[in-house]
Amino acid sequence: MAEAQEVHRAADQSSWPLHALAVSHTSQQLDLPLEETSGETVDAQTRELLLRVRRTPTDALPNATAPEHVIGVDDRELAQIVSEFNASMARMIRGDHPVSNVFQAPRKREVVRLTKKAGVKERNGGGKKIYHREAGWMTLEEAKANIAEWKRRARAQKADPTIRNANSQKVVLSLFDLTGAWARPWEEAGYQVYRFDIQDDPEVGDVNGFSTSFFIDWFADFEGMDIYAVLAACPCTDFSVSGNQWWGAKDADGRTVSSVNLVHQTLRLIEYIKPAVWAIENPVGRIEALGGLPPWRLAFDPYQLGDPYTKKTLIWGRFNADLPIAPVFPAEGSKMHKQYGGKSQATKNARSETPEGFSYGFFVANNAHDHPVMALANKFDRLDRALIEQAIELGIPHERIESSVEDPYYMDLDDEAANAAIAELIGESQAACCE
Ligand SMILES: C[S@@+](CC[C@H](N)C(=O)[O-])C[C@H]1O[C@@H](n2cnc3c(N)ncnc32)[C@H](O)[C@@H]1O
Repeated sequence: MAEAQEVHRAADQSSWPLHALAVSHTSQQLDLPLEETSGETVDAQTRELLLRVRRTPTDALPNATAPEHVIGVDDRELAQIVSEFNASMARMIRGDHPVSNVFQAPRKREVVRLTKKAGVKERNGGGKKIYHREAGWMTLEEAKANIAEWKRRARAQKADPTIRNANSQKVVLSLFDLTGAWARPWEEAGYQVYRFDIQDDPEVGDVNGFSTSFFIDWFADFEGMDIYAVLAACPCTDFSVSGNQWWGAKDADGRTVSSVNLVHQTLRLIEYIKPAVWAIENPVGRIEALGGLPPWRLAFDPYQLGDPYTKKTLIWGRFNADLPIAPVFPAEGSKMHKQYGGKSQATKNARSETPEGFSYGFFVANNAHDHPVMALANKFDRLDRALIEQAIELGIPHERIESSVEDPYYMDLDDEAANAAIAELIGESQAACCE
């Protein structure tokens, strides 16, 4: 375990908390399907999807080299896997008394398209996007200055002893993160960051290996830690619309199943942990339908955050999608395919590196210090958000709010009592200020 932590923990060992925090997850078995789903009727959308993905065995490539031919995977058909998983997700979300609302779909007003926020004009001309040079772009220098300010804000958190102490008690799990780009701002702000990528470590880095026993054996189940965020840049090659000519072959030979399994593993982890913030990144494609994700929350291109190229990207999850912007003219166009079109692992890695502007923008919009209401209301997501907001506005320390609700929330599942506990704190605070 110590060895694994050396590899995967970017933050300083000495800043680990010594006292226990609330355990924010249940003991559900991660290595089992979320629920049994046999006999579930599927909705029209799923049925249509299933028809689309179903392939006859004759579609299989004669010399398929899919990963499961090497390591072996569940041989149920892709359509059945998708159907079962999506149905169980839907049932969990619909449940009368859900233990958590971690997978709730974003409300309409929470969905953000950065292209709209940036207000720069793009239009389709003959099916092609036109970016007007005279629109309200920043210069590259101005955008760099913005990103430098976002970086400064992350680093300033670590420089402040009080914020550093609070951040050091929070964990960020960054999945499919070879470069560390998405996790970097969190590390710089003093969070405990663990990165997982199979290229880094074929054993501990393999998301397929996640299970409750995996986390107990390697990470002592993060006992006493507050897992604040799960970030996941899931492999996109079998989902991205830019590769749709290969979908038939990939569905037939099992590559799609392997990729879908990785998304399901990610969702199981999120269900197990129930972090305040989670985000799955992918280009436009079919990950939402096949993976069973709730509708996406954020759409952006890297040029809207200071990196001057286009790559339409969607983010699913629970987070604040209202990222700061630094729109620059996408002078490099779709540089990913022009400059890194090769098939080698190195060019694939270069192509999929998380853009820096996005990473820091995401941190600015989602870190716990700057967004205390979101952090607490997402953690205790069955409770009355307005009460939490009021308590924080009154300056009641979040540790006090947490300790007052933990028992009724986690042990008794008594949300009324937990809300009453917050109301009591508010009452006491108001009375104290008027004395
Ligand atoms: C789309 S790339 C994301 C890269 C990321 N944006 C970055 O900046 O490093 C997908 C990553 O998933 C990793 N990967 C593929 N299969 C994996 C697995 N089973 N477990 C963990 N990582 C895996 C790949 O090595 C690759 O780095």
